[in-house]
Amino acid sequence: MQVIIKRLKADKKTIGFVPTMGALHKGHSSLIRRSCKDNDITVVSIFVNPVQFGPDEDFRRYPRPLNNDISLCEKAGVDFIFYPSVSGMYAAGFKTYVYVEELSNLLCGKSRPGHFQGVATVVAKLFNIVRPDSAYFGQKDAQQVVIIKRMAVDLNIPVKIRVIPTVRERGGLALSSRNLYLSREERKDALVLSESLRLAKKLAVSGARNAAGIISAMKRLISSKKSTRIDYVAVVDPDNLKPVKRISDGCLTAVAVWIGKTRLIDNICLRY
Ligand code: PAF
Repeated sequence: MQVIIKRLKADKKTIGFVPTMGALHKGHSSLIRRSCKDNDITVVSIFVNPVQFGPDEDFRRYPRPLNNDISLCEKAGVDFIFYPSVSGMYAAGFKTYVYVEELSNLLCGKSRPGHFQGVATVVAKLFNIVRPDSAYFGQKDAQQVVIIKRMAVDLNIPVKIRVIPTVRERGGLALSSRNLYLSREERKDALVLSESLRLAKKLAVSGARNAAGIISAMKRLISSKKSTRIDYVAVVDPDNLKPVKRISDGCLTAVAVWIGKTRLIDNICLRY
């Protein structure tokens, strides 16, 4: 990959990069489409990154439908797929990790210790290998985006981070590779994540400004579904991810909910 990138850079090609863990869906397609539109060359990485999974998480069973992923990339116009091995990315003796302070311990970081250190480390490595002009991430992983933006600035990595809106199924469920784990019943219950975000928006539009009140209403709605267990419901500042007491235009409302054994996340920026 580094040899190819060197040649592309010598030919003055602009490079767009979409880092993924595979199990690609229409959310990834929208990132790829945008990259292809903006750049001469689009690189997609497919790498299920072991260091961002906790010991009891789903690293082993994470879906790896490589042939489907390759055909989705081909159809979407991807120029290169970077598909490294675990030992290629983390050779024996690997010792260097990237940790973005404060931002990594909030929200998902509370229940997934070490997750964002794993994400920041692999994304920094991928940026060093691919040296993209622009990299594309989904708004669904809002905290990941904030952390990667901070890391790129702090480590002087010259990449533009482009954030693309969440793609949803017709009922509102945000597309996620982990939706594959859901049973038919759980899939119905999972609609409550986006319903709760729509409720937050409705309350804000009708004048509610107290974050605690909005959070309580969202929690009540989510808990009304049989298979749900709330990890968090939060209203936070979109830049530093700290909780806000009174909501303001553009603040981030984020949820993480277990549906049976599957943990799903979603968020919206509250506009009213
Ligand atoms: O969002 C993801 O799929 C992963 O966290 C990423 C950015 C590819 C790093 O492994």
